[in-house]
Amino acid sequence: MTSFTSLRGELQVPADKSISHRALIFGSLATGTTRIRHFLNSDDCLSTMAIFRRLGIAIQTDQDHSEVTVTGQGLYGLQSSSEEPVSLYCGNSGTTMRLLSGVLAAQPFSSYLYGDDSLNKRPMKRVMLPLSMMGASLCSEQDNDCAPLLIQGAPLKGIRYLSPVSSAQVKSAVLLAGLYAEGETKVIEPSVSRDHTERFLKAFGAEVNVKDISEDDRGSYFASVMHCESLSAQEVFVPGDLSSAAYFLVAASLIKGSSLTLRQVGINPTRSGILTVLGEMGAEFTVENVSLFLEPYADLTVTEAPLKGTVMEGSMIPLLIDELPILCIAALFADGKTIIRDASELRVKESDRLHALCENLTAIGAEVTETPDGLTIQGNKPLHSAKIKTYGDHRIAMSFAIAEVIGKTRFGNDFSLPLDDPDCVKISYPEFFQDLEKLCR
Ligand code: S3P
Repeated sequence: MTSFTSLRGELQVPADKSISHRALIFGSLATGTTRIRHFLNSDDCLSTMAIFRRLGIAIQTDQDHSEVTVTGQGLYGLQSSSEEPVSLYCGNSGTTMRLLSGVLAAQPFSSYLYGDDSLNKRPMKRVMLPLSMMGASLCSEQDNDCAPLLIQGAPLKGIRYLSPVSSAQVKSAVLLAGLYAEGETKVIEPSVSRDHTERFLKAFGAEVNVKDISEDDRGSYFASVMHCESLSAQEVFVPGDLSSAAYFLVAASLIKGSSLTLRQVGINPTRSGILTVLGEMGAEFTVENVSLFLEPYADLTVTEAPLKGTVMEGSMIPLLIDELPILCIAALFADGKTIIRDASELRVKESDRLHALCENLTAIGAEVTETPDGLTIQGNKPLHSAKIKTYGDHRIAMSFAIAEVIGKTRFGNDFSLPLDDPDCVKISYPEFFQDLEKLCR
């Protein structure tokens, strides 16, 4: 990173990862042609694309993959190859594996889902259990409730599933299976997780019923879907990913003289916990040009302001689950203490993020304590250079890249946090380092 004084200008952050996956899934299962504008060309989304191609779906892309055309074959149009089980590689993508499990549970063929070393260690019982209750057969090859998974599709029946975790991946797997199930399928979660699947179900013509989350009620949430004969293809615009914008929101807040506009960023209220928390920490930003196309999005302009510590807990956690690593970096440079509780889900992401954060923060001299379900960070302490262990986790890598940039402005240009695997940013944000370089003035 060249030396600089502030972050200025504007940026179109890459497309939303969760929405890009769903655009491919719904486009493939719909009848007709779905056009996706501003698709995320990252490793995770390419895993989903490769799987649907392997299942016989024609998917055309322009040169940089940002415009995608999916020729859907209907809910019953997926094809297995001649050999069964059909082998499907999900790479590093939990969303691919869990959402596809829901679809494959209903197919008249068997499939074998596997991932990279990280994905093959992540818990899959959370989808195996409800999908088995619906009538499919799902086995973990190593008998450890992890992938590889062998899925034998079957005729499904609707269930009422009380999920122990607020997880959009679990909710989506069950609702996708619910399209094929007899009667109604309902998922109840402890508090609301991202609702992109519910929005897609509605837009593509399924009969869905969701609890109204506009009420100021953070209690349990439900979504249900009725058996469906066909979905109809749609135009989809994928807004910028707030999870990717988050790195720049934090950097610009903490670097003197910064002023940055991030264009067309998704602000879905089930994803925008980071805006609430940054506001509580004292961040200065505006939300302008709000638009809606399946999902709400807006231009975010952030200017530098001192941040103070805060508490993140309870039903707020699912609303900012992927932003907790970069919020820890915000806490690192904020005045006072930040406490994170109720976030044990971070232990089963692309890495054990609580451990990865605590280990790396300790290595750079931060005052940090790890608890079973969170972290406590004392902000604004002197820090020093150290090598960062990313564990191949894109969000750990990008968070510490931002910590380095902020640290240089506080401790001098020699402050450096080299990443052991910078390449892992390709999972969600292939152009991350180029964009960061571009904005630094
Ligand atoms: C995602 C849901 C979240 C999130 C992940 C993407 C999705 O996981 O962490 O990066 O697209 O549904 P959980 O649903 O397991 O919390």
